[in-house]
Amino acid sequence: MDEQNRKKTILSGIKPSGDLTLGSYMGAIKNWVELADEYNCYYMLADMHAVTVRQDPAELRRRTLSQLAQYIACGLDPEKNTLFIQSHVPAHAELAWALSCYTMFGELSRMTQFKDKAAKNADNINAGLFTYPVLMAADILLYQADLVPVGEDQKQHVELTRDIAHRFNAVYGDVFTMPEPFIPKTGARIMSLQTPCSKMSKSEQDNGGCVCLLDKPEDIMRCFRRAVTDCDTVDCVRFDPETKQGVSNLMQIYSVCTGKSFQQIQEEFSGLGYGAFKPRVGEAVVELLRPIREEAERLLRDKAYLESVYRDGARRAAQVAGRTVRKVYKKLGFVQP
Ligand code: TYM
Repeated sequence: MDEQNRKKTILSGIKPSGDLTLGSYMGAIKNWVELADEYNCYYMLADMHAVTVRQDPAELRRRTLSQLAQYIACGLDPEKNTLFIQSHVPAHAELAWALSCYTMFGELSRMTQFKDKAAKNADNINAGLFTYPVLMAADILLYQADLVPVGEDQKQHVELTRDIAHRFNAVYGDVFTMPEPFIPKTGARIMSLQTPCSKMSKSEQDNGGCVCLLDKPEDIMRCFRRAVTDCDTVDCVRFDPETKQGVSNLMQIYSVCTGKSFQQIQEEFSGLGYGAFKPRVGEAVVELLRPIREEAERLLRDKAYLESVYRDGARRAAQVAGRTVRKVYKKLGFVQP
């Protein structure tokens, strides 16, 4: 068996519905980079998922290409990893339809992200928003992924994927590999810098709660200096996500940037207040993101290169995904074309 075949497979993706955030980097991309050598990796730009909420078409195109440049700048080598745009591989939509006939209405109704998004987009609770986890299951099962590295908020969707795969396999035999979620110990849920009780998300780009990978150093520093700490009276750096959400979040960010444990961070800042801690976290983030931003800006000037990466990625992805769809269609009883 050759090297490629012996390796296990990873699939993951991010919606280009906003600029890439520090949360997506720490919860997902950083792990992708660390796992790249050990696994056979597929990383997509989930543009089909992005349109479950209204997008400006020109902006979506711009962000998709920018996200690809950022994937590469974060350290994902396109030679070693298959980087592709989801809508370029028709098998995703094809398998999603088949799997939707093996997914229960009740299961989809229980998805917490659907409930959250439906509340936020009350004027546009479309069918895509509801069936989105089925498309995500198709993304994963098409590549027979063993591992799905995601942040905490996507765990429920990966669990649903396992239920769908199990139901399908129980009827038709071992068609799909059973995927496992892979969630980092630190950084799985980075919180907003302004409202540390809610997840850092793309929608908070304007209020300083969210830092994006391409933000300028001065903007990043401003976000961290203004970061909400805690309203308890004790101005001390201590990890306690129950009562000190803001500081604990900053400690997580600092820990991911520096590799230091919470104990080491506590000792480093003992006797110093938040006034000293917050800018130090900002500086660590600036240094983490500086090479990524510079490399992404360079890549974005080379459109021909980016085009060659996504074309090659789609060709490689389509080969594997097409094989799974053909197998599924045969199992379902569709006449072979
Ligand atoms: P998305 O685009 O919302 O987020 C992309 C990835 O980043 C993680 N993440 C975070 N991690 C820690 N802290 C945060 N504040 C934070 N915000 C985001 C998410 O958990 C995710 O891993 N449905 C997916 C995209 C997708 C996908 C897939 C993922 C489509 N198909 C197949 C895995 C496999 C989504 O909306 O992620």
